[in-house]
Amino acid sequence: MTNKFVNLTNSTDGLSAELPLYLGTEGPEVLDISTLYRDMGVFTYDPGFMATASCKSSITYIDGNKGILRYRGYPIEQLAENSNYLEVSYLLLYGELPTSIQFDIFKGNICYHTMVKETLKSFFGGFHHDAHPMGIMVGVVGSLSAFYHDSLDIHDPRHREISAHRLIAKMPTIAAASYKHSIGEPFIYPRNDLDYCENFLRMMFATPCEDYQLDPVAVKAVNLLFILHADHEQNASTSTVRLAGSSQANPFACIASGIASLWGPFHGGANEAVLDMLNEIGDVSQIDKYIAKAKDKDDPFRLMGFGHRVYKNFDPRATIIREMCHEVLKTVSAEDNPLFELALELEQVALNDEYFVERKLYPNVDFYSGIIYRALKIPNNMLTVMFAIARTVGWVAHWLEMMADPKQRIGRPRQIYTGAGERDYRSMDKR
Ligand code: ACO
Repeated sequence: MTNKFVNLTNSTDGLSAELPLYLGTEGPEVLDISTLYRDMGVFTYDPGFMATASCKSSITYIDGNKGILRYRGYPIEQLAENSNYLEVSYLLLYGELPTSIQFDIFKGNICYHTMVKETLKSFFGGFHHDAHPMGIMVGVVGSLSAFYHDSLDIHDPRHREISAHRLIAKMPTIAAASYKHSIGEPFIYPRNDLDYCENFLRMMFATPCEDYQLDPVAVKAVNLLFILHADHEQNASTSTVRLAGSSQANPFACIASGIASLWGPFHGGANEAVLDMLNEIGDVSQIDKYIAKAKDKDDPFRLMGFGHRVYKNFDPRATIIREMCHEVLKTVSAEDNPLFELALELEQVALNDEYFVERKLYPNVDFYSGIIYRALKIPNNMLTVMFAIARTVGWVAHWLEMMADPKQRIGRPRQIYTGAGERDYRSMDKR
């Protein structure tokens, strides 16, 4: 915090306010405008939150100009190189890397909750066989609210922790079940002797008649992608979770709202959209045509997987994933190489095009993640589900942080009203 203030005076009515300037550990100074309406009778206007910090948080730090991403102070590159998804989950939730005893206890807690209630299985039967797995996820994760009345007191820190563990543990089980439902295969139960990512891959690809042979490259790739997707401070879905939670809604309902927000193609749905786009482009000879479409303001087409609200130099996650793409495609699936080649070429053309350079549009985390998942035989409609599994820990960490804050209040943005002025009701025959 600083002792600095900014004084504002409205020259028309003379009303003024003294607004404190805050400084976090890093990042720009932040002007506290919370007393502005009280003191000056005006709101601020910032659609899309271009310059508005919605909360204080000590979980994740991003410097978009320098391409920096850190979880609890640790650079994403170091975590990607040395850690695993569950360890990163512990870090995000509790603020420190675990000792080996802490890690074993945490792993035990997560394993303890991997199963879902048997009756939950019948919920899947209500969905049509071709339902999008993200639609199933929104519904089924939300329905967890109805199962755990023993731990739904959101004012009890222990209850909050149990709900957090349940969510992280059950997401892979529910995600794999969504996939199995969509292909008409029986659900596979979790196996707690496997690690988080191994267990998920097995639930996706084993059948009751044949077990799944775990491929270490696939496990490593999923682990890496889960680490990179685990948190990203106040993005759209995390802010959705916080806003839903600010009304004291239960955590399962809050995470379901986060999944819904993630689904959109401008956010987590981009990984699926990138693959659809690459398939549509089809061949390097078509790149120029699609670049022109992306630049045409009368055409809604955007280069999916390009651009980011915060990163204006490069997305450090994209750099790491690009490397992993090379590794996976070398060993796992040669048939996906043409797609990767196309993506590399598209990236080069865009990075040298004035339109993209001027607007600082670079490949984001999802430009390459779909290619890896596809090479691992994860179908296109499961790509955003993969993101949702990984991001659950981030959502939960932010929800826990918010709920532990004694000053937490309901989120309630204001508006500029642009509708009709007061008018009298007219009966239907007079309209
Ligand atoms: N292709 C073409 N033009 C683009 C793209 C794109 N992918 N992204 C931004 N632009 C252009 C906009 O048209 C705008 O141009 P203008 O100034 O001439 O009007 C300018 O760049 C700024 O774009 P905004 O939409 O204002 O930027 P914003 O920060 O609001 O949006 C977003 C960021 C949503 C990520 C955007 O870049 C986009 O739609 N990208 C494609 C979707 C995508 O990949 N989303 C995943 C993001 S990462 C994540 O959520 C996990």
